[in-house]
Amino acid sequence: MNQPLLEVRNLRTEFNTRAGRVAAVNDVSLTLERGRVLGLVGESGSGKSVTGFSIMGLVDPPGRVAGGEILFEGQDLLRLQPAEMRRLRGRHVAMIFQDPMMTLNPVLRVDAQMIEAVQAHDRVSRAAARDLARDTLALMGIASPEERLRAYPHQLSGGMRQRVAIAIAMLHRPSLIIADEPTTALDVTIQAQILSEVQRLVDEHGTSLIWISHDLSVVAGLADEIAVMYAGRVVEHGPVDDVIDHAAHPYTQGLIASLPSNNPRGQRLRQIPGVSPNLADPPAGCAFAARCARASSQCAQQPPMRPWPGSNAQEPAHPQAGRQAPHAVRCFHAGQAEEALA
Ligand SMILES: Nc1ncnc2c1ncn2[C@@H]1O[C@H](COP(=O)(O)OP(=O)(O)O)[C@@H](O)[C@H]1O
Ligand code: SF4
Ligand SMILES: [Mg+2]
Repeated sequence: MNQPLLEVRNLRTEFNTRAGRVAAVNDVSLTLERGRVLGLVGESGSGKSVTGFSIMGLVDPPGRVAGGEILFEGQDLLRLQPAEMRRLRGRHVAMIFQDPMMTLNPVLRVDAQMIEAVQAHDRVSRAAARDLARDTLALMGIASPEERLRAYPHQLSGGMRQRVAIAIAMLHRPSLIIADEPTTALDVTIQAQILSEVQRLVDEHGTSLIWISHDLSVVAGLADEIAVMYAGRVVEHGPVDDVIDHAAHPYTQGLIASLPSNNPRGQRLRQIPGVSPNLADPPAGCAFAARCARASSQCAQQPPMRPWPGSNAQEPAHPQAGRQAPHAVRCFHAGQAEEALA
């Protein structure tokens, strides 16, 4: 099969707000091959969740997808009827939310809702559906799955609720899972456990994964590729090693330099100075300009996404082999820099 599993082209998602129309996702393009993990990072409000919701067909008014294409196995999801999208969702693409109660129904026992989730897409008996539910809980590393099946969500810990939500997402062994900061609210130990369970699951099942996080260090250990979002746009993307070791966008460099592991112990964490722009009244040019030590008059224009470093170096030696998204950067003055931080 020669086409990527998912190809997002020039996606634009807008919200009508009292302050005006906001482009929460602006000209976002992403490519995801089968079995690969894409980390989508950026600070709060940069458009990560809305990108995920847009792919899942879950943007509700006052929001709407205003442009672009979302090709899943070559089919544009934006052209599907709502009923067709519902058939796809849960079966072939699934989402894990930051709050597991977005998935779980508080008044139903776990078995009832997992059986319902199975039978929504497969004509199987309740007994068979329950068996699949139990097996999938076990697959998620959940001890005593039989007991968990009989529990109500409120009887489970936060970490266990999220594991159950992930098991529900895995029920139909979808080819794509979008995980929207599913471990952010959990304590570090549980976070690490869930992370490694999910990593193992997607590995074993060849599932493609988009892992959304504001925390670059979480994503760096998990992803094959990284896309960094800022103010609704992807500003840098590429293979994880290229982006982490050779970041060329001042914002990505700032994110990396502000990681706790890159800061001396006991000293104040370095931070990117300033705040992200108001999306209801965005600057005409580069959205990062007000915070950028490298900004020049050229940056009053919108910088295009360009291959990095330079187009010659990006010519693949074997165009057919391994179609990894090449390293690309949206910056007029891309390059190594030290001055991104205060
Ligand atoms: N329901 C909504 N109504 C109005 N604006 C919204 C809504 N949801 C998101 N937005 C806008 O989209 C931007 C991006 O949101 P989001 O994708 O949730 O950011 P992230 O997940 O990166 O923190 C927000 O800053 C906000 O301007
Ligand atoms: S385009 Fe200009 S303002 Fe924007 S990140 Fe690059 S150097 Fe900074
Ligand atoms: Mg979010």
